[in-house]
Amino acid sequence: MLAQLLRRKSVDTAVGDGDASQALKRTLGVVELTALGIGAIVGAGIFSSTGTAAAGKFDALGHLVRPGAGAALVLSYLVTAIACGFAALCYAELAAMIPIAGSAYTYAYVTLGELVAWIIGWDLILEYAVGNIAVAVSWSGYFQDLLAGVGVHLPAWAGTNYNQATAQALAGAPHLFGLPIVLNLPACAIVALLTVLLVIGVKESARLNNWMVALKVLLLIGFVAAGAFYVTPANWHPFAPNGFSGVMTGASLVFFAYIGFDAISTTAEEARDPQRDLPRGMVLSLAICTVLYVAVTIVLTGIAHWSKLGVADPLAAALQVAHLEKLSGVMSFGAVIAMTAVLLVFQLGQPRIFFSMARDGLLPPFAARVHPRFRTPHVTTIITGVAVGGVAMFVDINDAVEFTNIGTLFAFVLVSAGVLVLRKIDPDRPRPFRCPGAPWVPLASIVCCIGLMVPLPRITWLRFVGWLLVGFVVYFGYGRKHSKLHARAVGGAAVGG
Ligand code: ALA
Repeated sequence: MLAQLLRRKSVDTAVGDGDASQALKRTLGVVELTALGIGAIVGAGIFSSTGTAAAGKFDALGHLVRPGAGAALVLSYLVTAIACGFAALCYAELAAMIPIAGSAYTYAYVTLGELVAWIIGWDLILEYAVGNIAVAVSWSGYFQDLLAGVGVHLPAWAGTNYNQATAQALAGAPHLFGLPIVLNLPACAIVALLTVLLVIGVKESARLNNWMVALKVLLLIGFVAAGAFYVTPANWHPFAPNGFSGVMTGASLVFFAYIGFDAISTTAEEARDPQRDLPRGMVLSLAICTVLYVAVTIVLTGIAHWSKLGVADPLAAALQVAHLEKLSGVMSFGAVIAMTAVLLVFQLGQPRIFFSMARDGLLPPFAARVHPRFRTPHVTTIITGVAVGGVAMFVDINDAVEFTNIGTLFAFVLVSAGVLVLRKIDPDRPRPFRCPGAPWVPLASIVCCIGLMVPLPRITWLRFVGWLLVGFVVYFGYGRKHSKLHARAVGGAAVGG
């Protein structure tokens, strides 16, 4: 039994798996991959969570629950960039070596064995699907701001998550079996729309993504260029009002803003030259976003005092402080576009992880079906769309962000450990990209990621442990028995015997 749980796929089996009917179309080059990375990275994190990371988190009565980083927000962003940089180098080594759609899940399968692979695949649902739930809620907020700008107002019950429902929203809500119905319809609608697009084709989706990425990068550059003239250096004093702990708490939140560079590894089977382009795409997209974020946060905390940034739309709010109202409206529009791109990439990534898990027998076979005409994993794309769109109508965005962060950080820890294991057990395998400074860089990645997990609230930790326990139940109830690797081993033993 223990041998089965620790059974590893060989790298050759992993690379050669899948029949021709399950082959995906190879259309993505380094530009598209980098753009997909930036598309996934710049979104709700910089446009929303940044405010809470600077000003701190308050409860409904206005009491400070978690201290913020203050003007030292830029340090939170830098600390997180360093942690992500280490992790990206580890991801890059494995992505180039094992260019398969399943990302960290597949890497774990060949390095740490089936049980850890399952755990990581299960854990990645937190990064991709739960992450997108948070982004969809944030998208809806900005989208409703835009609608309000042109005089269109949704009834409160149809555009709000339950935790934010005001007495007015509850009073005006329709009732079912005596219960008020309050839900976030725009959050669900955008996910549904993107799901249709993703079933039709990845190339088409990537083309749309390129446009959205160009726009959001220009927007952030515009924010820095225009805002720089309105910086008041006094706003940077005191720089770190809550010291190191404020900076680290901020870092554990803004980590959300960096998630995404790893998502491009899920498109390995749709990349033209994955071994060369995946590492480049990951490192380039992370580097570009780090430069942008550092510039944006310096200007942001310079225009408006950090204590004024604890709102859902801190960039737009800061521009209003500088009396740049028109630019503030443009910023809201840009946020909607930016978050659409994030939603697109993660709705693209999640189905490909399910697809890989189903191909290995850990999930039912229907999840590995490829659409005969569009050559996309349509079944898992639709399942992901229904789940994300459905849940996004109800949950609290902050809970979703923290849950996503803990899950993703854990995945980064396992990937970094995977690099160390594979160097030990398979040192001679060609590595088109080698993580520099091993074993120190993978070790540093592990330490930094755990360092970012620690400040997350206890409730998030409890949810995370609960999620992993449910994962174990599913694995022992289904995956362990249906695993193809298991069937092969049993078949081989039978033939051999
Ligand atoms: N990094 C992505 C965002 O901030 C998840 O929206």
